[in-house]
Amino acid sequence: ELSPIDKAKFVAARRAVDLIEDGMRVGLGTGSTAAWMVRCLGERVREEGLKLVGVPTSARTADLARQVGIDVVALDEAKWLDITIDGADEFDPALNLIKGGGGALLQEKIVATASDQMVVITDASKEVNHLGGFPLPVEVIPFGWQTSRALIEELLDSMDVLGRQTSLRLNGSEPYVTDEGNYIIDLHLNRIGNPRQLALVLNQIPGVVENGLFIDICDLVIIGGTDGKVEIRD
Ligand code: A5P
Repeated sequence: ELSPIDKAKFVAARRAVDLIEDGMRVGLGTGSTAAWMVRCLGERVREEGLKLVGVPTSARTADLARQVGIDVVALDEAKWLDITIDGADEFDPALNLIKGGGGALLQEKIVATASDQMVVITDASKEVNHLGGFPLPVEVIPFGWQTSRALIEELLDSMDVLGRQTSLRLNGSEPYVTDEGNYIIDLHLNRIGNPRQLALVLNQIPGVVENGLFIDICDLVIIGGTDGKVEIRD
């Protein structure tokens, strides 16, 4: 028996998997909601003999996809994708997102951008009027990360945000290390006035590889309810 929140994630994931057709190249997101999608997709592959290739956005998702019988290839082998299905930490009315709570934002953004369509699957708790309640992840290379962090803090002083705290993401007492060997600095902003501008200027700081703002990337959001109903935003 699923908990209400898992049920919401599951029904959103199952609806999204209905969009997949034979022969598609599919980007596979990361996180607990995306994991439901990978399991549902694996079921269709096994039961219907669906032929598809999956491009995972993390080592975790690659492992799960293989376990459930999905053929996994690297993005450069697939070249371009028909669709990517992924979770999100927040989405706003314009379908802009914050992602990276699970630390996979860099591969997620590359894969989503290389897709004709990006579909987000979520429960209702991720819907916001203004992005920024969820800490914004910024991926930085380890070399000189404290300098990069100081530059980010300086930048935030001139931006339309409410909070300005930053924190290095940890794994126990050590820095959390991404699949690409980088660190993550989480920005506690509370409310981002201009997400488009912030996304652009953050990436101009030397040492910053990518940030978790997904602007004009998502085409469709599928929201699962704890009652088993789904709602669609596009
Ligand atoms: C992974 O890096 C994230 O972008 C996830 O997509 C996001 O954290 C959502 O995860 P859940 O589905 O587990 O909430």
